Amino acid sequence: MFERHFFVCNNCRSTEAGLQSCSEQGGQEIFTELLRARQENRMVTQVFITETKCLGPCPERGATVAVYPDNVWYTSVTTDDVDEIVEKHMVGGEPVERLRDPHWPG
Ligand code: FES
Repeated sequence: MFERHFFVCNNCRSTEAGLQSCSEQGGQEIFTELLRARQENRMVTQVFITETKCLGPCPERGATVAVYPDNVWYTSVTTDDVDEIVEKHMVGGEPVERLRDPHWPG
């Protein structure tokens, strides 16, 4: 039964001068690691993971992952954070407070 949906930004705007986007900040690797972890934890029917274009919080705040229906937005995510997100949020159902963006969605 569906529990939550992870939206992982992998937007690339490398042609727009001076603006970072999530693909340059690990978006693809984060997406791939979440898919791997979902499989390892046998949560394919409970957790949806979707790769997206820009979700909005960039460019100042690094790679972005939004989780619904919890309305939790993680910014400045790195691949080093994925295990904690998986353990606490995907499997445990509790957000990783230290990674939550205090200003988004506002
Ligand atoms: S490029 Fe990822 S949130 Fe904007």
